[in-house]
Amino acid sequence: MTAEIINGKELAAELKSEMKEEVERVRKQGIVPHLTVVLVGDDPASKSYVNGKKKASKEVGISSQIIELPTFTTEKELLKLINKLNLDRDVHGILVQLPLPEHIKEQSIIEAIDPAKDVDGFHPVNIGRMMTGKDTFLSCTPYGIITMLKSRNIQMEGKHAVIIGRSNIVGKPVGQLLLNENATVTYCHSKTPDLKTYTKNADILIVAVGKANKIDADYLQDGAVVIDVGINRLADGTLTGDVDFASAKERASYITPVPKGVGPMTITMLLKNTIKAAIGLAD
Ligand code: GUN
Repeated sequence: MTAEIINGKELAAELKSEMKEEVERVRKQGIVPHLTVVLVGDDPASKSYVNGKKKASKEVGISSQIIELPTFTTEKELLKLINKLNLDRDVHGILVQLPLPEHIKEQSIIEAIDPAKDVDGFHPVNIGRMMTGKDTFLSCTPYGIITMLKSRNIQMEGKHAVIIGRSNIVGKPVGQLLLNENATVTYCHSKTPDLKTYTKNADILIVAVGKANKIDADYLQDGAVVIDVGINRLADGTLTGDVDFASAKERASYITPVPKGVGPMTITMLLKNTIKAAIGLAD
């Protein structure tokens, strides 16, 4: 079997063109969706992600602003800024780029953001709402993954979904979203013995471990749906996922590539959340 490739870049482009029309409609009602991104420090990778968010916002007509702060910014100063943004009626979405410098407690910052403006979906209130199946801001990468599966009408109900990786940003929430879709979910992680026992029984396999080419065809059940969340830069500068694409695509039914896979979907879902923040949650 040769897998069908789910191209995240193409899907993201389709979604962005729909969102552009939605933003035009919202703007006609006098609302200009606005995202404020806060970047502390000068990490080049973070800078590049933040610029990508600004560029994508512009593409769909979302107004955005990047607030750059020096590395030595104190937690108190950052909390003060967040409080100001929480109160600013023209700011609909707030995103504080992670990681933060070590002297700032990330969780304190995440919890200081008004849950109604938490377009990252990291606030405990929004995580709780996700767990109880309420309308909320879903964290962007898991939301992008579910959107990719739905775009191909891939059945989740009754299927065995195996997640490798248990980060708060990807592994844990994507498992919860698959559970909400009535999949049977198994979480694997670095302490799981004999990983293959689990992955060989996966109808849907989500790989988010951050190790280049960790999973190859030997780990897969015939016809598995394989979602590769990894973005690893090899010594020669090329980008590769956590999955050995060349071998896995010969056994999978669907597979996402790296690049042009999950990555472009993450920013796209941030835009969706920002529009949602401007309009307001349903319940
Ligand atoms: N750093 C890496 N990914 C993310 C993300 O999704 N949101 C934020 N705020 N920071 C990140």
